[in-house]
Amino acid sequence: MKLTFYEKRPKDKNIARIVLREGNESVVGVQGGKKVIYIGLGDGLRLNRRKLVSLARKVVVLAKGAKISCVALDFKDFVKNFEVAASELAEVLAVNFELANFEFVKYKSRPRDGWNFVKEIFVFGKIMPEIKNGFKKGQIVGGEVNACRILANTPGGEMTPKVLAEAAKTAFKNLPVKVSVLGCKEMGDLKMGGVLGVAKGAKEEPKFIIMEYMAGAKDKPVVLVGKGVTFDTGGLNIKTGEGMYEMHMDMSGAASVIHVIATAAKLKIAKNIIGLIPAVENMPSNESFRPGDVLRMMSGKTVEIINTDAEGRVILADALTYAKKYKPRLVVDVATLTGAALAALGQRASVIFSKDDSLIKTFQELGEESGDYVWPLPLWDEYEDDGIKGVFADLVNAHKTRYGGAILGAMFLWQFVKDDKAKAGAVFPWVHIDMAPRMTSIEGDWLAKGAAGEPTRLLVKLLEKF
Ligand code: BES
Ligand code: ZN
Ligand code: ZN
Repeated sequence: MKLTFYEKRPKDKNIARIVLREGNESVVGVQGGKKVIYIGLGDGLRLNRRKLVSLARKVVVLAKGAKISCVALDFKDFVKNFEVAASELAEVLAVNFELANFEFVKYKSRPRDGWNFVKEIFVFGKIMPEIKNGFKKGQIVGGEVNACRILANTPGGEMTPKVLAEAAKTAFKNLPVKVSVLGCKEMGDLKMGGVLGVAKGAKEEPKFIIMEYMAGAKDKPVVLVGKGVTFDTGGLNIKTGEGMYEMHMDMSGAASVIHVIATAAKLKIAKNIIGLIPAVENMPSNESFRPGDVLRMMSGKTVEIINTDAEGRVILADALTYAKKYKPRLVVDVATLTGAALAALGQRASVIFSKDDSLIKTFQELGEESGDYVWPLPLWDEYEDDGIKGVFADLVNAHKTRYGGAILGAMFLWQFVKDDKAKAGAVFPWVHIDMAPRMTSIEGDWLAKGAAGEPTRLLVKLLEKF
């Protein structure tokens, strides 16, 4: 989408103007022979970030519906009603214009008269350089979120661990990010029994993808870990048809990490950032890992497999152990980890976990700022007594109880973060994001069906500010 800046309102009658008004109705109308996009802002015209996100998306969705390809907005209409800096306003608008203008059409035939994408947005008024930069930055972030959505939406038959590793390399083309990819041999040398165990049933070789963006002199790095299950059948504990649908998106955490780092490089964020992706396919076959199998993890701890469908935590555990070698100042893992996270929060926010309350607060604030909302659940020590410990191994990967599944998943990961020698405390500050609730967009999001591209925007803000 092209963004053009003008001092005066463009005269061309094919350009539809945006009019903000009170009330709840948002529609396309005609005024003086020209199309107008009316956006209802509810009671009063005050704008806040949440309202602005849906406003920007509605503009694009309505324009597409009415086959309007050029839209004009009077920037002062927005500034006067918005409570935050104008450059941020510009960024939020641009990000959400881009997100709403995306549809996953790779596998669809082109309609006879083409797709209805918005081609150009004219911003008119006195636009200062920092506001232009806000728009430009928003376009970069929005473009990367959409690239993340393309990866996550790609069908499982095509998106294998190998293809995911290649996609990472493609995403960093001409960017100062080093990508290394480990295969079975190298993971065997590292004793990554978790990743190798889950991958046993699949013909596709697992990969461990390492991305290094070092622009922060001697700073300790932030490590981002993304769950890269390219298809989750459940393994021998096979999912039902309904449960397996959409499981090609079980690598959404990985897709997000790739494009967060690409955004950081494009925005030239002066920090050291590492991305780690354990990539596997979880398949049933005569070679699959079995319920009752005991896996020896990279950390040396053993895990009894109770349920082969709780595979995400098993591969992430090895990645968290690998992260230690960087002596990171923060580790964030992002995973479509549990259906229970959806049961807890619905589909409006991802669940966050941390032992550090100030990190929880930071993430909630960044969630509000970015539009990728997060909400916490507890990680109390008491939960360790609810079934993390194993009978025949140190740990189990799943539990008998149907309750608190998102918490138990997080508690399992915590076993690979905490410092057993120090009794309390972690080896590094850590946040776990169970993004299963936000894997796909929902009706009220004003986004195309499929992957939502979260929590890319939040993590970009984190890297900028933390
Ligand atoms: N990938 C799934 C979780 C999931 C479900 C993500 C729905 C997005 C939407 C994960 O690997 C899984 O199957 N988890 C199990 C864990 C259970 C066996 C302890 C679950 O949530 O049922
Ligand atoms: Zn699973
Ligand atoms: Zn999974």
